[in-house]
Amino acid sequence: MTANTESERVAERLQRSSARHSYDPDVDVDWQAPLVDGAYGKAPERCSLYGTALWDRLDDGQRAELSRQEAAAAAASGIWFELILMQGLVRHVYNSDPTTHNAQYALTEIADECRHSTMFARSIEKSGGVVRRPSRTAHRSGKIFGAVCGPALLFAGAIYVEELADGMQREMMRDDSLQPMIRMISRIHVIEEARHISFAKDELGRAWARHGRVGRELIRWAIAGMAYVATSELLHPKAYTSVGLDPREARQAATANPHWRRTKAAWAAKAVDYFTEIGLIGGPSRRLWRRAGVLD
Ligand SMILES: [Fe+2]
Ligand SMILES: [Fe+2]
Repeated sequence: MTANTESERVAERLQRSSARHSYDPDVDVDWQAPLVDGAYGKAPERCSLYGTALWDRLDDGQRAELSRQEAAAAAASGIWFELILMQGLVRHVYNSDPTTHNAQYALTEIADECRHSTMFARSIEKSGGVVRRPSRTAHRSGKIFGAVCGPALLFAGAIYVEELADGMQREMMRDDSLQPMIRMISRIHVIEEARHISFAKDELGRAWARHGRVGRELIRWAIAGMAYVATSELLHPKAYTSVGLDPREARQAATANPHWRRTKAAWAAKAVDYFTEIGLIGGPSRRLWRRAGVLD
C-alpha cells in the first residue's frame, strides 16, 4: 500500500467516525443551567498557584473563582490555537484534490474546530464574561505561524496543543466535583480531538519524512517556540486580577511553582514522548521545552 492510499484509508475511517459520533455544543451543552455555587473549574491541585504562599492567602471562594478563570483562560488559548489551525487546514485543502477523503476529512476538522471555538467562547462568557485576548506575543507569533507554516509544523503544532488539551480535559471530564458545564465541554472536546490527533500524526509522519537535516532542525526550533507560547497561554493576567492578585507577582509565583510545572508536564507528556520518539524534540532547542516547563 502506498503512503497515499494509506492516508486515504485513515481519512476515510475518521470521516466515518465523525459521521457517527459528533456533537453540536449549541444543543448538547445546557447553556441555561446556572453555574453550581462554589464548584471549581478544575481541580485545586491543577491550579497554577496551588502550594504557593499566594494560594494560602486565598479563601476557598477565591480559589474556586481562580480555578474557573484559569479554565476560561485555557478555553481562550484553545480558541487562539484553533483559529491558527483552521487557517492551516484551509490552506491544506486549497492545495489538495477536494474529492479525496483526506481533503474532506480536513474540511470536517475545520467544521469541528469552528464549533469548538464557539463552544469555548460561550463557556468563557458564562464563566464571568471577561473579554480575553491572547498575549501580544501569542497574537503576533500566531499570525506568522498560521500564515507561513508548512504541513510538518502545522500538524506538529496541532498534536502539541491537542494532546495538551486532552491531558487537561480528560481529568476535567471525569471529576464530578467540577462545574458540569466545564465537564461537558471537556467531554465533547476530548472525543472529537482524538480523531484530529490521529489525522495529525498520519500527516506529520509523511511531512517529517520529506525534510532533510536542516529543515528538521528549523522545524525543531519552530515547534519548540510554538509549544513555549502555547503553554504560557494557559495562564492569563485577568484570571489573577479576578481574585485580587497582582498578575505579575502571581505569574512569577506560578512559573516557579513545582506543582504547576508537574501539572504542565503531565498534560504535555503524550506529545513530548511522541515528539522525542520521532526526533522532533532533540538537540539545542530542548532548552525551550524546558523553559516551557514540560520537559525535565
Ligand atoms: Fe478543538
Ligand atoms: Fe482539533
